[in-house]
Amino acid sequence: MSRTVGIAVTGATKRAMSTSGKTINAGELFVSSDLSKRYAQFRPKLPVEHVNTIVELLGRKPGVWVDVGCGPGTSTQQIVGHADTIVGVDISETQVEVARQTHQHPSLSFVQGTCDKLPAEDCSVDVITAVQAAHYFDLPAFFKEVDRVLKPGGIVGLVSINTPKCVDSSSMDSARSCISDLITKHGLPDKVKLLEDNYKNLAMPYPTRKDHMVDIRTSWSLDDYLDVLMTFSPINNMIKSNGMTVKEGRGHVTQLLKESGMTAQDINSVYTWSQPCALVTATKP
Ligand SMILES: C[S@@+](CC[C@H](N)C(=O)[O-])C[C@H]1O[C@@H](n2cnc3c(N)ncnc32)[C@H](O)[C@@H]1O
Repeated sequence: MSRTVGIAVTGATKRAMSTSGKTINAGELFVSSDLSKRYAQFRPKLPVEHVNTIVELLGRKPGVWVDVGCGPGTSTQQIVGHADTIVGVDISETQVEVARQTHQHPSLSFVQGTCDKLPAEDCSVDVITAVQAAHYFDLPAFFKEVDRVLKPGGIVGLVSINTPKCVDSSSMDSARSCISDLITKHGLPDKVKLLEDNYKNLAMPYPTRKDHMVDIRTSWSLDDYLDVLMTFSPINNMIKSNGMTVKEGRGHVTQLLKESGMTAQDINSVYTWSQPCALVTATKP
C-alpha cells in the first residue's frame, strides 16, 4: 500500500471520469488535505436509519462491511457498532490519512484502494456501501468487484445526498437556483442528474433493488451552507479552473448570490434545510 500522496488512478477510473466533453479525475479532485478536513467538518453523515435498514435487510449483524469511496471516514464512522469489521476504502491517500487520524476504533480501518480492486477475498464481505461516491465510479467494473467479494445474501447499498433546499423561507429559492446553475455549469451533467434524481436511474447489479429515503434536516444560514458548497466537486472544478483560492471561490459565489437578490440579512439568517438522502440496495442471490 502506497504511503505517498501519489494516487493510483486506474485506466477504468480515468475513463469513468471523462464524459460529455468535460474531464474530472477523482484522484486529482480529492488530494488536498484542506479539502479532506473541510469534508470531515461540513459534509452530512450517513444517516443511522440507512445503517439500520441495511442490517435489517441482511437479517443479522454483518461480519465484514466495506465502505468504498469513504473520504475522510465521516460516514464510515457511523457504521461503528453495527458490524464486527469495517473497512473504509478510498482512491485518495489524502482522504485515507485524514480518516485514519480522525476516526479510531478497534473495528475500523482505512485502506487506499479503488472501487474495481477491493482489498477483500472472494465471497468474504457481508455489506458494501458507497456514500455519495458511486457516481464517480466505473460502475460496471465496481459491480463486477462487488459480485466477486460479496457473500451470497450480501448487500450492496449506494447512498446519494441531494443538494439542500430551504424549507421555511421561499426567499432562499433564488439562492438555490443560483447554486444549481453553478453546479450544472461546472459538474458532469450525467453525474449531477444521477444525484438530482436520488440515484433512481442508477442500475443495480441484482434484480432485488429497493429504494429507501431519509430527509436530513439541518439548521444553517446561507453563509454556513457555503462551507458545505465549497466541498462540492463542481464548485471545486470552478475554483481550480479559474485559478482561485477557496476563499476567493467563496467570495465569488457570495457575490453571485448578492447579484441574484440575496441581502446580507438573507445570507446570515438561520433556516431549516432539507437534504433528501436516498439509499438504493440490492441483495446478491
Ligand atoms: C464525494 S466523496 C464522498 C466521501 C464520503 N463517502 C462521504 O460521504 O463523506 C467521494 C469519494 O470517492 C472517492 N473515489 C472516487 N473515485 C473512486 C474510486 N474509483 N475508487 C475508490 N474511491 C473513489 C473520492 O476520492 C472521494 O473521497
